[in-house]
Amino acid sequence: MTQFSTPLSSSLGDVRGKRVLVRSDLNVPLDGMTITDDGRIRASVPTIQGLAEAGARVVVVAHLGRPKGTPDPAYSLAPVAARLGELLGVPVAFATDTVGESAAAVVGGLADGEVAVLENVRFNAGETSKDDAERGAFADQLAGLADAFVSDGFGVVHRKQASVYDVAQRLPHAMGQLVATEIDVLRRLTVSPERPYVVVLGGSKVSDKLGVIDNLLDKADKLLIGGGMVFTFLKAQGHEVGKSLLEEDQLDTCRAYLARASESGVEIVLPTDIVVDTAFPSGDREPEPVVVPASEIPADSLGLDIGPESAKAFAAELADARTVFWNGPMGVFEVEAFAAGTRAVAEALTRVDGLSVVGGGDSAAAVRQLGFEESAFGHISTGGGASLEYLEGKELPGIAVLED
Ligand code: 3PG
Repeated sequence: MTQFSTPLSSSLGDVRGKRVLVRSDLNVPLDGMTITDDGRIRASVPTIQGLAEAGARVVVVAHLGRPKGTPDPAYSLAPVAARLGELLGVPVAFATDTVGESAAAVVGGLADGEVAVLENVRFNAGETSKDDAERGAFADQLAGLADAFVSDGFGVVHRKQASVYDVAQRLPHAMGQLVATEIDVLRRLTVSPERPYVVVLGGSKVSDKLGVIDNLLDKADKLLIGGGMVFTFLKAQGHEVGKSLLEEDQLDTCRAYLARASESGVEIVLPTDIVVDTAFPSGDREPEPVVVPASEIPADSLGLDIGPESAKAFAAELADARTVFWNGPMGVFEVEAFAAGTRAVAEALTRVDGLSVVGGGDSAAAVRQLGFEESAFGHISTGGGASLEYLEGKELPGIAVLED
């Protein structure tokens, strides 16, 4: 039988017969009861499997969505537990609460090497409470279910929440394999990255990316910007953007970034053409995509993807890069008429001779939905906000608590 081993797990010693609480990030997109992208569940398997093979009684704790601190069937982890069982190839027990009677019974019934999943940890107000005592009291209950804790939910390590942070203060703990890998890759993006280092940012809001732009303006050689956030940059340059997404309150910030980039020799590359339509895609009408110059978006239209000329230019910028970080789709990739820009960037990333990292959330979902092999990329992160906060240079509470 394999001895479970990760960089920090030596502190746990032999886990055979021990109840090990594993915080995983199983926050996957669901359409009703159907999981539309199981990437995070698959990424969680190695740590869970490693512990089970080492004879631990594995108790998985995780969240799904943002329920309001009380049970809500729409956010039940039951379908996720079933999928985890399929991937592990063994039955996975499911507790219908997180720290109540069901959890106690399910955990108490585990034999060595068996796995259980607890119901959505965010059905408990203590999980996300800002009050240390309330969070601590809930963490006490979680810790009561286990002998040791393994932190493997990389997507939540930026959250100071009971199952991520407080529970680690109450049990012997270790970093899981997924978190260790993610941190290792992100460190390579921040400590002496191989150059040229190109960062591609997209997604809808500039305001979500301010910290990362701010920090990367000192580190990257080029910043390629697409997605909904680009229209605030285009407007900041004096262009009209029609009905496109615009964050008026970020115009000055974007102007300041453009000025700082030109002073420091970092190139901010914006698209020169845009795919527009007169309405956001919906089931009610067929898309009518039109390519226009980025400086001439008609007043009645909104930008939904970078145009073909820009896609080619972005791919050319990526061709020589030795390090690439990409976060955020270039357009509404879920609709084929507006997927070409995102597809072109993904394709270019697969050809990078060096380290290519796809940041989590929408860009990770995009590469899978567009049919790319995960192995074509250096690393696909499971953390959206977590990887951005790491790259912003912020301390991640879920990591700091393990290092303490
Ligand atoms: C994510 O989806 O990025 C993680 O699961 C964290 O979820 P949260 O933003 O609701 O904390």
